[in-house]
Amino acid sequence: MRTQVAIVGAGPSGLLLGALLHKAGIDHVIVEQRSPDYVLGRIRAGVLEQVAVDLLDEAGVGARLHAEGLPHDGFDLCFDGRRHRIDLHALTGKRVVVYGQTEVTRDLMDHRAAVGRTTVYDADNVAVGGFDTARPFVTFRQGGVEQRLEADFIAGCDGFHGVCRASVPGSAIQTFEKVYPFGWLGVLADVPPVSHELIYGNSDRGFMLASMRSKTRSRYYVQCRLDEKVEAWSDDAFWDELKRRLPAADAERLVTGPSIEKSIAPLRSFVTEPMRFGRLFLAGDAAHIVPPTGAKGLNLAASDVALLARGFIEHYAGSNEGIDRYSERALSRVWKAERFSWWFTSLMHQFPETGGFGAKMQLAELDYLCGSVAAQTVMAENYVGLPIPG
Ligand code: APR
Ligand code: PHB
Repeated sequence: MRTQVAIVGAGPSGLLLGALLHKAGIDHVIVEQRSPDYVLGRIRAGVLEQVAVDLLDEAGVGARLHAEGLPHDGFDLCFDGRRHRIDLHALTGKRVVVYGQTEVTRDLMDHRAAVGRTTVYDADNVAVGGFDTARPFVTFRQGGVEQRLEADFIAGCDGFHGVCRASVPGSAIQTFEKVYPFGWLGVLADVPPVSHELIYGNSDRGFMLASMRSKTRSRYYVQCRLDEKVEAWSDDAFWDELKRRLPAADAERLVTGPSIEKSIAPLRSFVTEPMRFGRLFLAGDAAHIVPPTGAKGLNLAASDVALLARGFIEHYAGSNEGIDRYSERALSRVWKAERFSWWFTSLMHQFPETGGFGAKMQLAELDYLCGSVAAQTVMAENYVGLPIPG
């Protein structure tokens, strides 16, 4: 097969890139190793920056997001028995939208089916090559038949464990990583959220987050040790622990129920430099991971894809400026979001190894934050999303 852009991975990055290239009339094929149900089955975060909402609108997949998404003008921080609202809209004139990543993925998949673009699911032995030549290619096996897809460019949207970054020679790539000494135990349940906005808490028992997917479906997280097993956590044990970390009034009000999903996720910061290797371009989790505290994962994937789509559109219009500056532009926004996610994670979690002094530093920073409009504006500006460079 021959196409202009071969996209590896049909997660949010690959599908959004596909939608933007479709709109621009650029030929492309997506190759995904898993089934559509598997891709849809993964539970991920759900806070969209205005930048991501605008991109989904531009790609023509924003209707359900606007109909069912929950616009939020702020969120609460609670610590030391105090609760403080960060008024995003008053501080920045912007807001975020709570809308699950699974719903974004579903909207992108429905759009793709409706416009009849090719997605190869259940592709085995996916491999990429030739990206240091003028004719990069993707090979894979489907239905027992060896396939070869030749293209002008390969977009590596295959996530952290994908084949694209792994195919780059070690000498051409640099990685930066921080692994945090704890995880997030998350529960999804069809119960009304305890608050109409998100609550981020730093309690002496650890971090907690009260989030939601809708007015009837809630998502809660508590910080846990990395060696803990999800099987060891009954629903009751989870709700009891959450109540211990919530402000008393919220714990009173908390509606509990059976979990429909429960899992433990590790926290990691990871960045790859550069994000382009000849005619191979990495986007989203294939190039970088953020700890979920700042809800930047999906939003960073969207801004990468915006820059990459723009680069390909410019290329086929005769200019290589966009693709030549893709890596530098994407990384400048990636590192800022990495910094914000690391800072927010460091502020809101218990780090036993830092002892009493570390805990006092956190409380002093939270106290300062709650008393300073300047500090709140810095936080709000990063939370609602920084502009896409270029
Ligand atoms: N060949 C083909 N497809 C692959 C391969 C491979 N070798 N390896 C992985 N994939 C597919 C996965 O099955 C998955 O569907 O690539 C897709 C990558 O999707 P994600 O991991 O969701 O990454 P991305 O699309 O960049 O989305 C980033 O996901 O993890 C969240 O917080 C993160 O919100 C962010 C978003
Ligand atoms: C979520 O709803 O899953 C969520 C929200 C905000 C975060 C992280 C996760 O910072």
